[in-house]
Amino acid sequence: MRGADVAPELAARASSDTVGVMSQDARTDQQPDARHLDAHQALALLQLYIEWGADEAIEPTPQSRLGATLLSPAGKTTAPAGQPPAGKAVAAPPQLSEQPSPAFRPAVAPARPLGTMDQAAVLSAREAARAAPDLAALKAALERFEGLSLRGTATNLVFADGNPKARVMLVGEAPGADEDRLGQPFVGVSGQLLDRMMAAIGLDRTTFYITNVCFWRPPGNRKPTDLEFAAQKPFVERHIELVRPKVLVLVGAAAAQGLLGTTEGITRLRGRWFQYTLGESGHAIPAMPIFHPAYLLRQPAQKRETWRDLLKLRDSIQ
Ligand code: URA
Repeated sequence: MRGADVAPELAARASSDTVGVMSQDARTDQQPDARHLDAHQALALLQLYIEWGADEAIEPTPQSRLGATLLSPAGKTTAPAGQPPAGKAVAAPPQLSEQPSPAFRPAVAPARPLGTMDQAAVLSAREAARAAPDLAALKAALERFEGLSLRGTATNLVFADGNPKARVMLVGEAPGADEDRLGQPFVGVSGQLLDRMMAAIGLDRTTFYITNVCFWRPPGNRKPTDLEFAAQKPFVERHIELVRPKVLVLVGAAAAQGLLGTTEGITRLRGRWFQYTLGESGHAIPAMPIFHPAYLLRQPAQKRETWRDLLKLRDSIQ
């Protein structure tokens, strides 16, 4: 939050049902009208909305999201025009998609084909990523990249953490508030769970490398749009190419679907080995999707499946 002075404004917007990150369950028809609250009441209301996950004043004008779609269709990542997806699934062909019930996330624009400006952003990303000879140059290229407005709303670029020479590379979805503040991936509550999961198979940030398919925090933790994925994908692919891990771990549906080029649900993808193929060299890297730790925090019963997946991962690197 940006300080108490924004409280009445955010509280007013929140109470008029305009902040997209609020749980639908949390909404009621009898919302207090923040215009009639004193400063203490407005702050208390604001605190409540923050607890519900509404921690950003995203748009200047109120909009009702009650009629909007809550989630974009699963797995709608868009390969840049004319390009095959870099990752190739080698397991059984996709069957029925089966998504774990996701936490509420704010609405995103419905999927649409990339327009000319969008394609220009993807092309410029591809050029910038390809020109980066090493990780420092790739990070610098991302810092200069102007093809995405996400950069303007985020506090920090979240590039990577851990050991770039490690055999294991983890790729998650997108930074959250803690990651945005600190400029490091997976440092919040779900990152701490992920660290404990990796520690259980003897790995830590000196023996794995970790990044995301989205380098800036989407406002209010909404799901990155297709364009945002598409414009960052060349950087992600180059990132993997430069690290060249022995094993890739795709943390959650967005990373798995985006990099393997499938719409199959994470429930079916997790625990299976795929081949992620590097674009230019054709070099194949074994890749295993796992449940996202944020999902495991909501569905602790699924930890048992994840433990099995982690044991397979451990066996693969011994
Ligand atoms: N979730 C992610 O997918 N990545 C992060 O860096 C933090 C949370």
